[in-house]
Amino acid sequence: MNALLTVTGLTVRLPLDGEPRKVLSDVSLGIGHGEAVGLVGESGSGKSMTARSIARLLPQGAQVEGEIGYAGTDVRALRGQGLRDFRSKVSMVFQDPRAHINPVRTIGDFLTEALRVNRRVSRRVADGQAVRALEEVGVADSRRRLRQFPHELSGGLLQRVMIASALLTEPRLLLADEPTTALDVTTQAEVMAILDELRRERGLALLFITHDLELAAAVCDRTMVMYAGRIMESRASALLHERPLHPYTAALTAARPSVLRRVHRLTTVPGRPVSAFEAPGGCPFAGRCAHVEDRCRERRPDLRPLAGGEVACVRAEELHQEPAVTRD
Ligand SMILES: Nc1ncnc2c1ncn2[C@@H]1O[C@H](COP(=O)(O)OP(=O)(O)O)[C@@H](O)[C@H]1O
Ligand SMILES: [Mg+2]
Repeated sequence: MNALLTVTGLTVRLPLDGEPRKVLSDVSLGIGHGEAVGLVGESGSGKSMTARSIARLLPQGAQVEGEIGYAGTDVRALRGQGLRDFRSKVSMVFQDPRAHINPVRTIGDFLTEALRVNRRVSRRVADGQAVRALEEVGVADSRRRLRQFPHELSGGLLQRVMIASALLTEPRLLLADEPTTALDVTTQAEVMAILDELRRERGLALLFITHDLELAAAVCDRTMVMYAGRIMESRASALLHERPLHPYTAALTAARPSVLRRVHRLTTVPGRPVSAFEAPGGCPFAGRCAHVEDRCRERRPDLRPLAGGEVACVRAEELHQEPAVTRD
């Protein structure tokens, strides 16, 4: 597939207690035009930092190595107008809409600011575009909404406003960082359906970040699994879900409660996740892996092509011969 976005060898360090700590380690990925790609993994695995690196929204003091290319441009070299143009083509939706919206300004001001400031569109025209954008994400009574303040809207409604805002600049790539995690279940499903429909209608590429492998599989063509700041496996979502190659992916799949399986106790992935800077030498998952061998701790496994995808496990072939997860 013709790549819209390519990330090569991305390593990011952030200052923690005054010391640079590695949070992403040699991340390489590509997203094609109109492709929906999931990024899953436990908390702290580096999903948000991956999206923020792409969007050029890393915290102050971040040290970055590697390359980020968007439609033939070097994203890391962008400044001024070039960076503003890039930000209109690559939009981000965050987990907690309230943390990313100014509470003392109206929804209308929030939605039209980029259009009025960057594109010099008149207030009246910008309002018209904002109304249409709100209608597109299923917000009723959208003219009135423009005059309201964020606290007057529910979380689900506010997330729709954020999605409308992300779409106003007609982006080609949407980075959605756990957009439904903070919402209740029914609202989650509605917001997901809207995102999915808009994406298909507009041929948008999507990086969909979630800790829920099943949700990623339902929405995305391909899913990448991240652990300790690294990509551990990347494959077509259906394959990844049905027959995971990496023991970490298998553990994540098994940990998900299922209505089809009666479980007496909910399975969890044993141990706690480690960050990139805490990861030992060798495979970062070795300490929690049910299939660990000495050689897993000796050398860090590269992400390599296998079975139509990529996997970073030296035992993937032999484990793949047996069912990767045992279920009763
Ligand atoms: N502002 C920050 N400064 C320093 N470290 C951070 C900051 N934000 C996140 N981290 C660390 O970076 C690592 C990756 O975090 P993150 O990308 O937010 O994980 P995820 O989104 O997968 O939960 C974690 O170890 C986290 O503690
Ligand atoms: Mg996150």
